[in-house]
Amino acid sequence: METKILLSESELPTRWYNVSPDLPEPLPPPLHPGTGKPIGPEDLAPIFPLELIKQEVSQERWIDIPDAVLDAYKIYRPTPLHRAHRLEKALNTNARIYFKNESVSPAGSHKPNTAIAQAYYNKQEGVIRLCTETGAGQWGSAIAFACKLFDLQCTVYMVRVSYEQKPYRRLLMQTWGAEVHPSPTNLTNSGRKILAENPDSPGSLGIAISEAVEDAATHEDAKYSLGSVLNHVLLHQTVVGLEAKRQIEMAGERPDVLIGCVGGGSNFAGFAFPFLPDKLKGKPIRMIAVEPTACPTLTKGIYTYDFGDTVGLTPLVKMYTLGHTFVPPGIHAGGLRYHGDAPQLCLLVKHKVIEAVAYPQNAVFEAAMLFAQTEGLVPAPETAHAIRCVIDEAKKNQGNCIVFNFSGHGYFDLSAYDAYLSGKLEDYAYPEAKIQEAIGKIPKVTVG
Ligand SMILES: Cc1ncc(COP(=O)(O)O)c(C=O)c1O
Repeated sequence: METKILLSESELPTRWYNVSPDLPEPLPPPLHPGTGKPIGPEDLAPIFPLELIKQEVSQERWIDIPDAVLDAYKIYRPTPLHRAHRLEKALNTNARIYFKNESVSPAGSHKPNTAIAQAYYNKQEGVIRLCTETGAGQWGSAIAFACKLFDLQCTVYMVRVSYEQKPYRRLLMQTWGAEVHPSPTNLTNSGRKILAENPDSPGSLGIAISEAVEDAATHEDAKYSLGSVLNHVLLHQTVVGLEAKRQIEMAGERPDVLIGCVGGGSNFAGFAFPFLPDKLKGKPIRMIAVEPTACPTLTKGIYTYDFGDTVGLTPLVKMYTLGHTFVPPGIHAGGLRYHGDAPQLCLLVKHKVIEAVAYPQNAVFEAAMLFAQTEGLVPAPETAHAIRCVIDEAKKNQGNCIVFNFSGHGYFDLSAYDAYLSGKLEDYAYPEAKIQEAIGKIPKVTVG
């Protein structure tokens, strides 16, 4: 019985899988934040390179991965698929548990899969500097690394609560040459507006996005880069699921359940979407998206048009949302504190193709501890949400083949483990009043 199922570099997928043509209905169009009318490529051109805009709206099922991107992927890809023998034994389960190990990338997560592609396309189109936001610092470090590979400058707006909790992530970004600011800052109108209302704002991904978009839109040589949510980001992440599919076949298995955590949806989608054509052909594969109870977008949000950022600069997209003004509690899974989710993922949840569950922090860290003590790897707090669900599924459904995405390691998140071990971790249940207040501020939109 193998513990690691490995692919050679020559088996690296050479095309990404685009789920758009396989969706049960076309995605509702993104709308202009000012006019409320569907946006065209010209509206996105100030902040994104043309090639990424084309990918955003593409209906081609397969998109070639450029050679320079494949070369950079080879620094850490293909990634291993592991069988979690020791976790299975500790759970006393007959379920077979596998995990795709995206923590082996230099930045420690799946995020470089799209960071590398985005840096490449920006460089091709003459961009000098990329602006972005980061929650836990995982995305920021991925884009800092990718910018260095393609000789681009990099400015990162890091959510203040994570900036304070995670000085080592900031140092990692700076090691790869990025400039990092705690958001909200005084550097942008968006940041100044938030600080005027609340000088102690812990920040949120929505606020940091507003700052990064504003920076890119107001500087000719700069563009914006997003680490999740958008169709082209999910597209780039499908390299994960395409590899995993082959590896599961090599193990002689057929997956019954696919599990991943969801912040904006990119690691879950990149892992699960390549299995969607099989599911649509009738294979009984369950797909479970896992989120925190403190920010329960898919399980408690409403499916409607909303802004992607807090200030209202981005297009309106149709998604499950808690309201763009919702600032989630400062939980340790910083990468899961986003008010919305990827429109493609949301559509599939709405059609009940994908299930969603939510867990509180302490239950999540209990699962992370068991995983660390059996499999050795210390999961990122985000990833630990998936592990909580895997453990519950393995106990409930004996005999199943469960595969999950180990989206990142937690070696820069040990302060979160410290909080758990010293009993200081708080469980935030569904913050109903705050969410209802934020939902009340969602713009009313009619398309047509
Ligand atoms: C390790 C890890 N997993 C998951 C996520 C959530 O993002 P996404 O839903 O886009 O995969 C993050 C975000 O920072 C992360 O760092």
